[in-house]
This record gives sequence, structure tokens and C-alpha cells, in this order.
Amino acid sequence: MTKLKWGMIGGGEGSQIGPAHRLGSGLDSLFEFCAGALDHRPDEGRAYGQRLGLASDRAYGNWQEMLAGERDREDRIDLVTVATPNSTHFEITKAFLEAGFHVLCEKPMTMTVEEGEDIVRTAQSSGSICAVNYGYTGYSLVRHMRAMVQRGDLGKIRLVNAEFAHGHHADAADADNPRVRWRYDPAQAGVSAQFADCGIHAMHMASFITGQEVTKLSADIVSCIDSRELEDDAMVNFRMDGGTVGRLWTSSVAIGRQHGLGIQVFGEKGGLRWTQEQPNQLFWMPLNERLQIIERGEANLSPEADRTTRVTIGHAEGMPLAFANIYKDLSEAIIASKEKRPTDPAADLYPRAEDGLRSMAAVKAVAESGASDAAWVDARPPMFRT
Ligand SMILES: NC(=O)c1ccc[n+]([C@@H]2O[C@H](COP(=O)([O-])OP(=O)(O)OC[C@H]3O[C@@H](n4cnc5c(N)ncnc54)[C@H](O)[C@@H]3O)[C@@H](O)[C@H]2O)c1
Repeated sequence: MTKLKWGMIGGGEGSQIGPAHRLGSGLDSLFEFCAGALDHRPDEGRAYGQRLGLASDRAYGNWQEMLAGERDREDRIDLVTVATPNSTHFEITKAFLEAGFHVLCEKPMTMTVEEGEDIVRTAQSSGSICAVNYGYTGYSLVRHMRAMVQRGDLGKIRLVNAEFAHGHHADAADADNPRVRWRYDPAQAGVSAQFADCGIHAMHMASFITGQEVTKLSADIVSCIDSRELEDDAMVNFRMDGGTVGRLWTSSVAIGRQHGLGIQVFGEKGGLRWTQEQPNQLFWMPLNERLQIIERGEANLSPEADRTTRVTIGHAEGMPLAFANIYKDLSEAIIASKEKRPTDPAADLYPRAEDGLRSMAAVKAVAESGASDAAWVDARPPMFRT
């Protein structure tokens, strides 16, 4: 099978998320890395691209050059990943969608709800795929949780409890470090810091697993470090359209917590617990029975879990493999669209522009609620309120 052609914007040398995308996209030999504008410094971006194996005419100095260079090539890229800083996502994603490219955009997809609605409309009118990298939904056992909820193992879902709390910005003496400070500055970060950075992953995961959307929320937000204008900790209560009650804690000052992403789902017939730092075990307790540990890769899991596991049971699979599952889904969706056939339903699970938009509406709602003493506010994007 011919590999799909893949390009990347951002993710330059030393970036946090660039390597995980390159590992994820390359893992199943489905994509070939063909083009990139990897760095905000054109020369460094070109040089690094070539060191990674790009041809010199496809190691671009900036994304505008890349768009112009790729647009009319017969062998142009099939998919571009946007892994630049947040405030650039909207402009780059919109331009590539308008030119008919499929896009995987890093989160948060945009800075505002209005931009998010614009991206959803642009993707719809262009017919291109716009995915958003809620990459943690690619974990095999997260897919299995979703399948268990869908097939009714837990019965009606009463509660979901999600966390994304780390301690990496807890040092008050480091608060003025420019790499940390911008995140809490509204001029650069928008209306929210910690919720927009991490909380949206946890909230999206709650929707992904339960199959329900958040309708309203109430947020208690604080800045534990006084010099910060935006929140470094938030406790968010929310309600979902299927009746589930949601609780979410996100923090960047939780010393001792490392990545700190986890989720618990409690239904009438059982409860599930999963944490991203031990992603190969899922804790499952059916009502009135014993607590059980489900291992990634064991027999008789769901087709969704089987499809997204590669390494034998007992050997760890981690975050780049979860990202690889998003790329695997996207490869199936892109090939299906080329062949004008429906996408395999088991692969049709990658997060969409609509999910990115819902996150932006939740970000806005958290900021509004937080500013009004945790009042309950509508968390739906205006275009989904009818
Ligand atoms: N999905 C996830 O789990 C996850 C995890 C971490 C970061 N992210 C997201 O990924 C994005 C990047 O984060 P990061 O931590 O890798 O940032 P980073 O600062 O470590 O790296 C950013 C990279 O983008 C390059 N860049 C900046 N502006 C550019 C431009 N205009 N054109 C081309 N390249 C440009 C920089 O030179 C750098 O190489 C952010 O939106 C962040 O929220 C997502």
C-alpha cells in the first residue's frame, strides 16, 4: 500500500510535542514525512527538517511558503499537523483547510469560540477532515472504556470524575520565567490558563467515554501564585446532555503530581477507573462483585481496544502509541475519502473540529463562571444550541 504523505508545522528541535507526532505518524508505516515548516526561525526550521530527512525543497522556512509550495504539487501532502503555539492554530488551520488539505490541529484548536465556529464551517465547506489532537483518547483502554459504556456494561452513567492536575508550575520563584509566565498572561494565553491547557483534555475525555456533551458548568478558579492573572487551579462541576453529573479538577500547582490525567466513570451497574500514568490497566468493579483489573492486550476486549494495541500484554504502551492511534484513524478516514467509501466505524473515533469548538465554549464558560462566583453558565457553542 502506498503511504500517505504527511507534513508538519511547528514541532521544531527541542519542542515538547513534535517528537511524539513524528513517532505517532510513523509507527504503523501509514504516513511518510514529506514536508515541514518546523520552527519559527526559518533557517533553523529548514536545517532541522533536512536533518530529519526532508528534501531540501520541502523543508520550508515558514507555513506560508509551505502552503504555496505544496498546494500545486501532484504529490502534495495528504495531511498536515499543526503543532505551533496556540495563538497561531486558527490562521494556519483555516488556510490549509481552505486549500483542501486534511488537518490535525493541536489543542486548543483556537483562541476563541468565534474562531472555533469558523473552523467548523470551513472544514464543512471544504470537505476536508479537521481533527484535533486529544491524543489521550487514543489509548487502547480508553477506547475500551468507551466501548463498555456504549454496550451498557455500566448501565446508566451517573457520575464522571476527571482530573488533569500536575505540579510543574508550582514554584513561585520560577513564575517570572518567560517560558512559564506567558501561560498566565491574558494577552498571550486568552481567557484561561490551566483549564485551557489541561482541563479541556479531561473534559473531552469525559465526553468521549460517556458519549455525552457538556451542557452547563460552574467553575471555582484560583491563582495560587499571586502574580498570575489567569488561573493555575480550577474545580469545575458540569452537567451532560445524557444526565451525567461531571466533576473535574485541574491544577498546575499540585506538587508531587506528574502528568496527573485520570478519569473515573460510575454507572448504575459498575464503575471504571483509569489513569494515564498506568495506562495498561483499567480498574473495573461490577456492582456487588469483586474489583477486577483489565489488562491492555488481554483476550476478549472490545474491537476498539484490539484495533489500537500493538505490543504483547505485559509490555508497556504509552503516549506516542496513543497518538499513533489517532494517526491510524486518520489514515483510514483519508483513504476512505479518496476511495469514496464510508470510514470503518471502528476507526471513526478521532476527535473532530466540533470537539475543539466545544472545548473553546467550555473555556469561555469556565472564565465567565469563575469571574462570577462559580455561577452556572451555558457551556455549549452558540452554533450547537438549537
Ligand atoms: N495534545 C497534547 O497532549 C499536547 C501536549 C503538549 C503540547 N500540546 C500543544 O502543542 C502545541 C505546541 O506545544 P509545545 O509544547 O510543543 O510548544 P514548544 O514551545 O515546545 O514548541 C513549539 C514549536 O513550534 C515552533 N513554532 C512556533 N511558531 C511557529 C510558526 N509560526 N511556524 C512554524 N513553527 C513555529 C517553535 O519553533 C517550536 O519548535 C501547543 O498548542 C500545545 O498546547 C499538546
